[in-house]
Amino acid sequence: MKTRITDMFGIEHPIIQGGMHYVGFAELAAAVSSAGGLGIITGLTQRTPELLAKEIARCRDMTDKPFGVNLTFLPTFATPPYPEYIAAIREGGIKIVETAGRSPEQYMPALKAAGIKVIHKCTSVRHSLKAESIGCDAVSVDGFECGGHPGEDDIPNMILLPRAAEELKIPFVASGGMADARSLVAALAMGAEGMNMGTRFIATKEAPVHDNVKQALVKASELDTRLIMRALRNTERVLRNDNVDRLLEIEREKGRNLKIEDIHDQVAGIYPKVMIEGDMSAGAWSCGMVAGLIRDIPTCKELIDRIMADAEKIIRQRLEGFLAGSPSRKVA
Ligand SMILES: Cc1cc2nc3c(=O)[nH]c(=O)nc-3n(C[C@H](O)[C@H](O)[C@H](O)COP(=O)(O)O)c2cc1C
Repeated sequence: MKTRITDMFGIEHPIIQGGMHYVGFAELAAAVSSAGGLGIITGLTQRTPELLAKEIARCRDMTDKPFGVNLTFLPTFATPPYPEYIAAIREGGIKIVETAGRSPEQYMPALKAAGIKVIHKCTSVRHSLKAESIGCDAVSVDGFECGGHPGEDDIPNMILLPRAAEELKIPFVASGGMADARSLVAALAMGAEGMNMGTRFIATKEAPVHDNVKQALVKASELDTRLIMRALRNTERVLRNDNVDRLLEIEREKGRNLKIEDIHDQVAGIYPKVMIEGDMSAGAWSCGMVAGLIRDIPTCKELIDRIMADAEKIIRQRLEGFLAGSPSRKVA
């Protein structure tokens, strides 16, 4: 399958693995890229630019396919040294960067001067248009379903993707709620040229996270995520657990007066405890509604091959079948 996204990034399949804190290490990025998708190392999970340089080198040892680095511009407790991270990316020979959070505008000249293609993750049409206007090469359109930060507009992908298709000239991938061939074909039908998956890629053999995390995703249903930090205008979709319930109680008590300090214990420093130690109730960690569609823990190659084979069946048999007048058939 060829799209503007496979052409732009030099990949075989239009499937991207979004940056994920404490998940997007070299092992996962290399596995996704070797399987023909685009793997992405999460820049800020590496605590210093020097560590990111090492992680890029480690990934390069594991795959000869293209892979990217995610740079997230979110409100954090301390501002990271972004120019130094960009230097590590440039010197590591990376040609694809996924940006997310605040606009990457001030860093675009440095990224473009290094010949880097930038795909910015946006949760709205207006931010996607802004990304296009500042020279981003592509957009990852992240719907309300997504794990992580869905923004504050709450527009699901059934609406957001066709709206993005109406407005954008640069290519975009669908992100949020993407799990399988059905997601990919639907996304293509709505104007996207590929898809970006986060949560689904955590439940793979190569994702270097504790097995408890993968089992929790297999067990979870689409009803098990919660939105937190709305009052801070930094909404995040996370998997429900006892500590998230406690956090939501605090949010209810504080109402509009909520401050980040009030929920510090439930959100700060949680990722290593969950992803490395497997303490599933340590606090709030990002997870998409798509957990309801995750039933197994395949390798990245098995997952991507299955998606591409099933997508072909859906298009050639189910959809063409409708046009040919055959009755509805379940093919994937
Ligand atoms: C555990 C986890 C951590 C994430 N961390 C980041 C991050 O650090 N930066 C970022 O841009 N997106 C992050 N995301 C969002 C993903 O890159 C992706 O946009 C999102 O997961 C897509 O929605 P899905 O989970 O429904 O596939 C994270 C998602 C998850 C599930």
